Amino acid sequence: MNNNILVIGASGQIGTELTLKLRQIYGNQKVVASDIRNGNYEVMESGPFEILDVTNKDDILKVIQKHKITQVYLMAAMLSAIAEKKPKNAWELNMNSLFNVLDLAREKVIDKVFWPSSIAVFGPSSPKQDTPQLTVMNPSTVYGISKLAGESWCAYYHDKFGVDVRSVRYPGIISYKTNPGGGTTDYAVEIFHGAKAHKSYTSFLSENTVLPMMYMDDAINATIKIMQHEKFERYTSYNLAAVSFSPKEISEAIKKHIPDFTINYKTDDRQGIAESWPQTIDDKQARKDWNWEHKVDLDELVREMLQGLHFAV
Ligand code: SER
Repeated sequence: MNNNILVIGASGQIGTELTLKLRQIYGNQKVVASDIRNGNYEVMESGPFEILDVTNKDDILKVIQKHKITQVYLMAAMLSAIAEKKPKNAWELNMNSLFNVLDLAREKVIDKVFWPSSIAVFGPSSPKQDTPQLTVMNPSTVYGISKLAGESWCAYYHDKFGVDVRSVRYPGIISYKTNPGGGTTDYAVEIFHGAKAHKSYTSFLSENTVLPMMYMDDAINATIKIMQHEKFERYTSYNLAAVSFSPKEISEAIKKHIPDFTINYKTDDRQGIAESWPQTIDDKQARKDWNWEHKVDLDELVREMLQGLHFAV
């Protein structure tokens, strides 16, 4: 059977749960997980797993041929905070991985690609509230620059070579199975670990810094839904929204479950990154074009995280 799926970056925060959900839908053997490092036990045990360096196109091709892959979800990337510390490495990883996969699609080795973009494509001069899909962008971070360039390359490959590539701009993603690493929105995951372990957390973003966020289940549903949609005429990286909150607001929501939870603030470089990003996102285009809708609000997200982490630790 010649229509298998490859997830690249399957040991990462989103890749882990995406792989498990795709296996649930399409069958364990049809979804090949790959990453440069080992990952979640369930991902490695429930179906095929390959160690793969996404910057090496020949290695990707070998895995694709071995497993008769037709669709690739490219989830490997260096996130915003760590990319500021290693700009060249971030550019190389984020761009070369994309070129490798887009070129394989252009050569018709694969049929369809998912590539995630981010709210980081927006910059200090973008509108902060209800940020539209098309507006002033001018990202001020290495990560944002790589994502905006990537969006343009996806559009180019789509228009010039007919490559079927689909993309959404994720907000901060909240989950408990695998931690994020090196992002600016990571505080909104760490806060739950602090709450469970010692009923306190020191936030690296200030109390009123509002950012767009989303619970993992909604992110996975969006990802699979846009890939299952019939072919789009135009390439667009879609804005996606679910909830927006500040460290103070999420700490209030946690206090409803853990009344003596306390939060402190000690900002670092990530504060500047957060301030360059939107606070709320207008995603009506995605809601109209492919019926995107989120399901999880802040209270449910907090409930799910506190429950899930209980079993995870
Ligand atoms: N969560 C990402 C980050 O913080 C944004 O896409 O870098």
